[in-house]
Amino acid sequence: MNIKNRQTDDELILAIETSCDETAAAVVRGGTEILSNVIASQIESHKRFGGVVPELASRHHTESITWIVEEALKEAELTLVDIDAVAVTHGPGLVGALLVGVNAAKAIAFAHGLPLLPVHHISGHIQAARLEREWQYPALALVVSGGHTELVLMEEEGRYQVIGETRDDAAGEAYDKVARSLQLPYPGGPHIDQLAKTGTANIAFPIAWLEAGSYDFSFSGLKSAVINTLHNTRQRGESLAPEDVAASFQKSVVEVLTTKTKRAAEAYQVKQVVLAGGVAANQGLRNAMEAAFQGTDMELTIPPLSLCTDNAAMIGAAAHIQWKQNQRAGWDLNGTADLALT
Ligand code: KG4
Ligand code: ZN
Repeated sequence: MNIKNRQTDDELILAIETSCDETAAAVVRGGTEILSNVIASQIESHKRFGGVVPELASRHHTESITWIVEEALKEAELTLVDIDAVAVTHGPGLVGALLVGVNAAKAIAFAHGLPLLPVHHISGHIQAARLEREWQYPALALVVSGGHTELVLMEEEGRYQVIGETRDDAAGEAYDKVARSLQLPYPGGPHIDQLAKTGTANIAFPIAWLEAGSYDFSFSGLKSAVINTLHNTRQRGESLAPEDVAASFQKSVVEVLTTKTKRAAEAYQVKQVVLAGGVAANQGLRNAMEAAFQGTDMELTIPPLSLCTDNAAMIGAAAHIQWKQNQRAGWDLNGTADLALT
Protein backbone atom coordinates (compact mmCIF):
# COMPACT_ATOMS: atom_id res chain seq x y z
CA MET A 1 0.00 0.00 0.00
CA ASN A 2 1.04 3.59 -0.61
CA ILE A 3 1.96 5.51 2.52
CA LYS A 4 1.94 9.29 2.38
CA ASN A 5 5.47 10.66 2.70
CA ARG A 6 5.56 14.43 2.54
CA GLN A 7 9.16 15.62 3.01
CA THR A 8 8.74 18.63 5.27
CA ASP A 9 9.65 19.99 8.68
CA ASP A 10 6.23 21.51 9.29
CA GLU A 11 4.36 18.23 9.18
CA LEU A 12 0.88 17.93 10.69
CA ILE A 13 0.75 15.15 13.28
CA LEU A 14 -2.40 13.73 14.81
CA ALA A 15 -1.28 12.48 18.24
CA ILE A 16 -3.10 10.10 20.56
CA GLU A 17 -2.44 9.41 24.26
CA THR A 18 -4.29 6.81 26.36
CA SER A 19 -1.62 5.39 28.68
CA CYS A 20 -3.44 6.04 31.96
CA ASP A 21 -6.66 7.86 32.82
CA GLU A 22 -6.85 10.63 30.23
CA THR A 23 -8.13 10.03 26.69
CA ALA A 24 -6.33 12.67 24.66
CA ALA A 25 -5.83 13.70 21.03
CA ALA A 26 -4.04 16.69 19.53
CA VAL A 27 -2.87 18.12 16.24
CA VAL A 28 0.68 19.53 16.31
CA ARG A 29 2.53 21.26 13.46
CA GLY A 30 6.29 20.79 13.14
CA GLY A 31 6.64 19.56 16.74
CA THR A 32 6.15 23.06 18.14
CA GLU A 33 2.77 24.52 17.25
CA ILE A 34 -0.39 23.22 18.93
CA LEU A 35 -3.41 23.41 16.62
CA SER A 36 -5.65 21.52 19.05
CA ASN A 37 -5.23 19.65 22.33
CA VAL A 38 -8.32 17.81 23.59
CA ILE A 39 -8.52 15.78 26.80
CA ALA A 40 -11.27 13.70 28.40
CA SER A 41 -10.32 13.12 32.02
CA GLN A 42 -11.65 10.06 33.82
CA ILE A 43 -10.76 11.35 37.28
CA GLU A 44 -14.39 11.56 38.41
CA SER A 45 -14.90 7.83 37.69
CA HIS A 46 -11.75 6.68 39.45
CA LYS A 47 -12.09 9.04 42.43
CA ARG A 48 -14.54 6.87 44.34
CA PHE A 49 -12.04 3.98 44.23
CA GLY A 50 -9.16 6.18 45.47
CA GLY A 51 -7.00 5.43 42.41
CA VAL A 52 -7.05 4.38 38.76
CA VAL A 53 -8.96 1.14 38.09
CA PRO A 54 -7.34 -0.34 34.93
CA GLU A 55 -10.47 -2.06 33.56
CA LEU A 56 -12.51 1.08 34.00
CA ALA A 57 -9.80 3.14 32.29
CA SER A 58 -9.82 0.86 29.22
CA ARG A 59 -13.59 1.02 28.99
CA HIS A 60 -13.65 4.82 29.19
CA HIS A 61 -10.91 5.09 26.54
CA THR A 62 -12.96 2.86 24.21
CA GLU A 63 -16.01 5.08 24.70
CA SER A 64 -14.16 8.37 24.21
CA ILE A 65 -11.42 7.78 21.65
CA THR A 66 -13.53 8.31 18.51
CA TRP A 67 -15.11 11.61 19.54
CA ILE A 68 -11.86 12.89 21.08
CA VAL A 69 -10.03 12.37 17.77
CA GLU A 70 -12.92 13.97 15.86
CA GLU A 71 -12.88 16.91 18.26
CA ALA A 72 -9.10 17.38 17.89
CA LEU A 73 -9.45 17.54 14.09
CA LYS A 74 -12.45 19.84 14.31
CA GLU A 75 -10.69 22.28 16.65
CA ALA A 76 -7.67 22.30 14.35
CA GLU A 77 -10.06 22.94 11.43
CA LEU A 78 -8.55 20.04 9.51
CA THR A 79 -9.56 16.65 8.16
CA LEU A 80 -7.52 13.46 7.94
CA VAL A 81 -6.64 14.37 4.35
CA ASP A 82 -4.47 17.22 5.71
CA ILE A 83 -2.67 15.05 8.30
CA ASP A 84 0.86 13.74 7.50
CA ALA A 85 1.28 11.13 10.26
CA VAL A 86 -0.44 9.55 13.26
CA ALA A 87 1.53 9.36 16.52
CA VAL A 88 0.59 7.30 19.54
CA THR A 89 1.89 6.49 23.03
CA HIS A 90 2.76 2.78 22.97
CA GLY A 91 4.19 2.59 26.52
CA PRO A 92 4.80 2.61 29.37
CA GLY A 93 1.40 2.60 31.04
CA LEU A 94 -1.61 0.37 31.67
CA VAL A 95 -1.57 -2.18 28.89
CA GLY A 96 -5.35 -2.28 28.36
CA ALA A 97 -5.43 1.51 28.23
CA LEU A 98 -2.46 1.72 25.83
CA LEU A 99 -4.07 -0.81 23.49
CA VAL A 100 -7.10 1.42 22.88
CA GLY A 101 -4.91 4.30 21.66
CA VAL A 102 -2.54 2.05 19.71
CA ASN A 103 -5.39 0.32 17.89
CA ALA A 104 -7.20 3.57 17.13
CA ALA A 105 -3.97 5.06 15.75
CA LYS A 106 -3.26 1.96 13.64
CA ALA A 107 -6.79 1.93 12.23
CA ILE A 108 -6.69 5.63 11.28
CA ALA A 109 -3.17 5.40 9.82
CA PHE A 110 -3.96 2.23 7.85
CA ALA A 111 -7.28 3.50 6.50
CA HIS A 112 -5.78 6.81 5.37
CA GLY A 113 -2.36 5.56 4.21
CA LEU A 114 -0.48 7.55 6.85
CA PRO A 115 2.80 6.71 8.59
CA LEU A 116 2.53 5.56 12.21
CA LEU A 117 4.91 7.11 14.76
CA PRO A 118 5.45 5.21 18.07
CA VAL A 119 6.05 7.50 21.07
CA HIS A 120 7.38 6.73 24.55
CA HIS A 121 5.21 8.40 27.20
CA ILE A 122 8.22 9.89 29.05
CA SER A 123 9.68 11.21 25.82
CA GLY A 124 6.31 12.97 25.48
CA HIS A 125 6.54 14.54 28.94
CA ILE A 126 10.11 15.72 28.20
CA GLN A 127 9.32 17.05 24.73
CA ALA A 128 6.43 19.15 26.07
CA ALA A 129 9.27 21.65 26.59
CA ARG A 130 9.67 21.88 22.79
CA LEU A 131 6.24 23.52 22.69
CA GLU A 132 7.73 26.31 24.84
CA ARG A 133 11.19 26.87 23.38
CA GLU A 134 14.00 25.31 21.34
CA TRP A 135 16.30 22.80 23.00
CA GLN A 136 19.90 23.57 23.88
CA TYR A 137 22.14 20.54 24.37
CA PRO A 138 23.36 19.01 26.57
CA ALA A 139 20.09 19.18 28.48
CA LEU A 140 18.73 17.57 31.61
CA ALA A 141 15.10 16.71 32.38
CA LEU A 142 13.59 15.94 35.76
CA VAL A 143 10.54 13.81 34.99
CA VAL A 144 8.17 13.56 37.95
CA SER A 145 4.78 11.94 37.47
CA GLY A 146 2.42 9.43 39.02
CA GLY A 147 4.46 6.52 37.68
CA HIS A 148 7.94 8.01 37.16
CA THR A 149 10.73 9.93 38.84
CA GLU A 150 13.71 10.13 36.55
CA LEU A 151 16.66 12.38 35.76
CA VAL A 152 17.25 12.12 32.03
CA LEU A 153 20.34 13.47 30.28
CA MET A 154 20.13 14.41 26.60
CA GLU A 155 23.37 15.08 24.78
CA GLU A 156 21.61 15.37 21.45
CA GLU A 157 18.09 15.33 20.10
CA GLY A 158 16.10 12.22 20.95
CA ARG A 159 18.97 10.46 22.76
CA TYR A 160 17.92 9.78 26.33
CA GLN A 161 20.20 8.56 29.11
CA VAL A 162 18.54 7.85 32.47
CA ILE A 163 21.13 8.93 35.08
CA GLY A 164 18.87 8.63 38.12
CA GLU A 165 15.51 7.10 38.99
CA THR A 166 13.35 6.18 41.93
CA ARG A 167 14.15 2.92 43.68
CA ASP A 168 10.61 2.55 44.99
CA ASP A 169 7.65 4.95 44.79
CA ALA A 170 7.36 7.67 42.17
CA ALA A 171 7.08 11.21 43.52
CA GLY A 172 3.45 11.51 42.37
CA GLU A 173 2.61 8.16 43.94
CA ALA A 174 4.01 9.38 47.29
CA TYR A 175 1.90 12.54 46.95
CA ASP A 176 -1.22 10.51 46.23
CA LYS A 177 -0.64 8.08 49.13
CA VAL A 178 0.12 10.82 51.66
CA ALA A 179 -2.98 12.68 50.45
CA ARG A 180 -5.05 9.56 50.98
CA SER A 181 -3.84 9.26 54.56
CA LEU A 182 -4.94 12.88 55.06
CA GLN A 183 -8.35 11.87 53.64
CA LEU A 184 -7.93 14.09 50.59
CA PRO A 185 -9.53 13.08 47.26
CA TYR A 186 -7.69 11.34 44.40
CA PRO A 187 -5.41 12.45 42.77
CA GLY A 188 -3.96 13.98 45.91
CA GLY A 189 -0.97 15.87 44.51
CA PRO A 190 -2.81 19.12 43.73
CA HIS A 191 -4.61 19.01 47.13
CA ILE A 192 -1.34 18.63 49.07
CA ASP A 193 0.11 21.46 46.97
CA GLN A 194 -2.82 23.72 47.92
CA LEU A 195 -2.72 22.77 51.61
CA ALA A 196 1.06 23.22 51.80
CA LYS A 197 0.67 26.88 50.81
CA THR A 198 -1.12 27.65 54.08
CA GLY A 199 0.95 25.39 56.36
CA THR A 200 4.31 25.57 58.11
CA ALA A 201 6.98 22.93 57.50
CA ASN A 202 7.47 22.32 61.22
CA ILE A 203 7.63 18.49 61.23
CA ALA A 204 11.04 16.96 60.46
CA PHE A 205 10.31 14.19 57.94
CA PRO A 206 13.26 12.18 56.57
CA ILE A 207 14.98 12.79 53.24
CA ALA A 208 16.60 9.80 51.50
CA TRP A 209 19.83 11.19 50.02
CA LEU A 210 21.14 7.65 49.30
CA GLU A 211 24.86 7.01 48.72
CA ALA A 212 27.14 9.90 47.77
CA GLY A 213 27.08 10.70 44.07
CA SER A 214 23.83 8.83 43.38
CA TYR A 215 21.16 10.60 41.37
CA ASP A 216 18.58 8.01 42.39
CA PHE A 217 15.58 8.81 44.57
CA SER A 218 13.56 6.97 47.22
CA PHE A 219 10.23 8.14 48.58
CA SER A 220 8.84 5.09 50.37
CA GLY A 221 10.60 5.91 53.68
CA LEU A 222 9.24 9.45 53.62
CA LYS A 223 5.74 8.23 52.74
CA SER A 224 5.82 5.69 55.62
CA ALA A 225 7.13 8.32 58.04
CA VAL A 226 4.20 10.62 57.24
CA ILE A 227 1.65 7.81 57.51
CA ASN A 228 3.18 6.55 60.80
CA THR A 229 3.33 10.04 62.29
CA LEU A 230 -0.36 10.59 61.48
CA HIS A 231 -1.28 7.17 62.87
CA ASN A 232 0.68 7.59 66.11
CA THR A 233 -0.70 11.05 66.71
CA ARG A 234 -4.27 9.79 66.22
CA GLN A 235 -3.62 6.89 68.61
CA ARG A 236 -2.58 9.35 71.28
CA GLY A 237 -5.86 11.15 70.73
CA GLU A 238 -3.99 14.16 69.37
CA SER A 239 -4.05 15.74 65.95
CA LEU A 240 -1.69 17.53 63.61
CA ALA A 241 -2.68 20.40 61.40
CA PRO A 242 -3.06 18.82 57.90
CA GLU A 243 -1.59 21.90 56.28
CA ASP A 244 1.58 21.53 58.38
CA VAL A 245 1.84 17.83 57.46
CA ALA A 246 1.42 18.77 53.78
CA ALA A 247 4.00 21.57 53.98
CA SER A 248 6.53 19.36 55.81
CA PHE A 249 6.09 16.44 53.40
CA GLN A 250 6.35 18.74 50.38
CA LYS A 251 9.51 20.35 51.78
CA SER A 252 11.26 16.95 51.95
CA VAL A 253 10.20 15.98 48.40
CA VAL A 254 11.09 19.35 46.86
CA GLU A 255 14.45 19.57 48.62
CA VAL A 256 15.73 16.22 47.35
CA LEU A 257 14.37 16.72 43.82
CA THR A 258 15.83 20.21 43.48
CA THR A 259 19.21 19.44 45.07
CA LYS A 260 19.87 16.33 42.97
CA THR A 261 18.74 18.03 39.76
CA LYS A 262 21.07 20.97 40.40
CA ARG A 263 23.96 18.64 41.26
CA ALA A 264 23.47 16.61 38.07
CA ALA A 265 23.06 19.74 35.94
CA GLU A 266 26.40 21.07 37.22
CA ALA A 267 28.20 17.72 36.91
CA TYR A 268 27.11 17.27 33.27
CA GLN A 269 27.48 20.99 32.48
CA VAL A 270 24.11 21.18 30.81
CA LYS A 271 22.80 24.28 29.06
CA GLN A 272 19.13 23.63 29.70
CA VAL A 273 17.09 22.04 32.48
CA VAL A 274 13.50 20.93 31.96
CA LEU A 275 10.91 20.10 34.60
CA ALA A 276 8.36 17.61 33.24
CA GLY A 277 5.47 15.33 34.26
CA GLY A 278 2.35 15.81 36.38
CA VAL A 279 4.22 16.72 39.58
CA ALA A 280 5.87 19.58 37.64
CA ALA A 281 2.50 21.29 38.18
CA ASN A 282 3.50 21.58 41.87
CA GLN A 283 3.92 25.23 42.85
CA GLY A 284 6.42 24.47 45.62
CA LEU A 285 8.63 22.51 43.21
CA ARG A 286 8.37 25.16 40.48
CA ASN A 287 9.38 27.92 42.91
CA ALA A 288 12.30 25.91 44.33
CA MET A 289 13.59 25.00 40.85
CA GLU A 290 13.35 28.63 39.73
CA ALA A 291 15.30 29.76 42.80
CA ALA A 292 17.93 27.02 42.30
CA PHE A 293 18.68 27.95 38.69
CA GLN A 294 18.31 31.73 38.95
CA GLY A 295 21.63 33.46 38.33
CA THR A 296 23.20 30.37 36.72
CA ASP A 297 23.93 30.16 33.00
CA MET A 298 21.59 27.17 32.72
CA GLU A 299 18.18 27.89 31.29
CA LEU A 300 15.22 26.41 33.18
CA THR A 301 12.14 25.47 31.14
CA ILE A 302 8.90 24.58 32.89
CA PRO A 303 5.96 23.92 30.54
CA PRO A 304 2.60 25.48 31.49
CA LEU A 305 0.44 23.38 33.83
CA SER A 306 -1.80 22.08 31.03
CA LEU A 307 1.21 20.56 29.25
CA CYS A 308 2.71 19.01 32.43
CA THR A 309 -0.09 16.54 33.16
CA ASP A 310 -0.94 13.88 30.57
CA ASN A 311 -1.97 15.31 27.20
CA ALA A 312 -1.55 14.47 23.52
CA ALA A 313 0.18 17.68 22.37
CA MET A 314 3.33 16.49 24.14
CA ILE A 315 3.09 13.21 22.19
CA GLY A 316 2.85 15.19 18.93
CA ALA A 317 5.90 17.24 19.98
CA ALA A 318 7.92 14.10 20.73
CA ALA A 319 6.79 12.43 17.50
CA HIS A 320 8.44 15.22 15.51
CA ILE A 321 11.81 13.61 16.34
CA GLN A 322 10.68 10.26 14.91
CA TRP A 323 9.27 12.06 11.90
CA LYS A 324 12.59 13.75 11.19
CA GLN A 325 14.61 10.58 11.81
CA ASN A 326 12.28 8.56 9.61
CA GLN A 327 11.39 6.13 12.41
CA ARG A 328 8.09 4.44 11.64
CA ALA A 329 6.15 1.68 13.41
CA GLY A 330 4.80 -1.38 11.61
CA TRP A 331 1.16 -2.49 11.65
CA ASP A 332 2.17 -4.94 14.41
CA LEU A 333 2.77 -2.11 16.91
CA ASN A 334 1.67 -3.17 20.40
CA GLY A 335 1.14 -1.52 23.77
CA THR A 336 4.06 -2.25 26.14
CA ALA A 337 3.39 -1.67 29.86
CA ASP A 338 7.10 -1.44 30.87
CA LEU A 339 8.62 0.09 27.72
CA ALA A 340 12.20 1.31 28.41
CA LEU A 341 13.17 4.89 27.51
CA THR A 342 16.57 4.16 26.05
O1 KG4 B 1 2.06 12.90 34.38
P1 KG4 B 1 0.74 12.60 35.02
O2 KG4 B 1 -0.45 13.42 34.60
O3 KG4 B 1 0.36 11.10 34.84
C1 KG4 B 1 1.33 10.09 34.87
O4 KG4 B 1 1.96 9.84 33.81
O5 KG4 B 1 1.51 9.55 35.98
O6 KG4 B 1 0.98 12.75 36.60
C2 KG4 B 1 -0.05 12.52 37.54
C3 KG4 B 1 0.55 12.73 38.92
C4 KG4 B 1 -0.39 12.34 40.05
O7 KG4 B 1 0.31 11.55 40.99
C5 KG4 B 1 -0.79 13.69 40.65
O8 KG4 B 1 -1.11 13.62 42.03
C6 KG4 B 1 0.47 14.48 40.41
O9 KG4 B 1 0.89 14.11 39.13
N1 KG4 B 1 0.22 15.94 40.47
C7 KG4 B 1 0.74 16.74 41.42
C8 KG4 B 1 0.25 18.04 41.16
N2 KG4 B 1 -0.56 17.97 40.06
C9 KG4 B 1 -0.56 16.68 39.64
N3 KG4 B 1 1.58 16.47 42.42
C10 KG4 B 1 1.93 17.49 43.22
N4 KG4 B 1 1.49 18.76 43.06
C11 KG4 B 1 0.65 19.08 42.06
N5 KG4 B 1 0.22 20.33 41.89
ZN1 ZN C 1 2.32 11.00 32.36
